[in-house]
Amino acid sequence: MLEFCGRHQILITAYSPLARGRIIDDPTLTKIGERHGVGAAQISLAWTISKNVIAIPKASSREHLEENFEALKIELSEDEIAEIDALDKERRLVDPGFSEFDRG
Ligand SMILES: NC(=O)c1ccc[n+]([C@@H]2O[C@H](COP(=O)([O-])OP(=O)(O)OC[C@H]3O[C@@H](n4cnc5c(N)ncnc54)[C@H](OP(=O)(O)O)[C@@H]3O)[C@@H](O)[C@H]2O)c1
Repeated sequence: MLEFCGRHQILITAYSPLARGRIIDDPTLTKIGERHGVGAAQISLAWTISKNVIAIPKASSREHLEENFEALKIELSEDEIAEIDALDKERRLVDPGFSEFDRG
């Protein structure tokens, strides 16, 4: 879908780009984060942005808000992006029904 949308100049928005907080203990994201001195959440956002996908994380604390803005400055290496690309894409961490989206 990313490839198709890129070809047709369609921007994608990642709802729940932190899987509603469920990615913060991911070992791969945590390991890469340690290299950059940041948490897994910020690595998830940096990877999302590296794909030219808009990320709209929710954060209820100032600390998380600031961390998420800082993610804009993280430059992942090609190897790091490839390592995240290789994670199991069949594993769905959040699966909100469409009725939830209808409520806006
Ligand atoms: N219109 C719709 O139907 C629809 C559907 C889905 C999502 N959305 C919107 O999309 C946005 C996404 O929110 P979401 O809750 O679904 O998922 P999300 O952004 O993937 O996850 C939010 C969770 O991640 C935590 N978090 C945020 N920044 C963090 C950080 N730097 N480090 C560690 N944890 C962090 C938050 O904790 P804290 O709150 O404690 O900071 C919260 O528990 C929201 O604005 C939501 O309203 C809209």
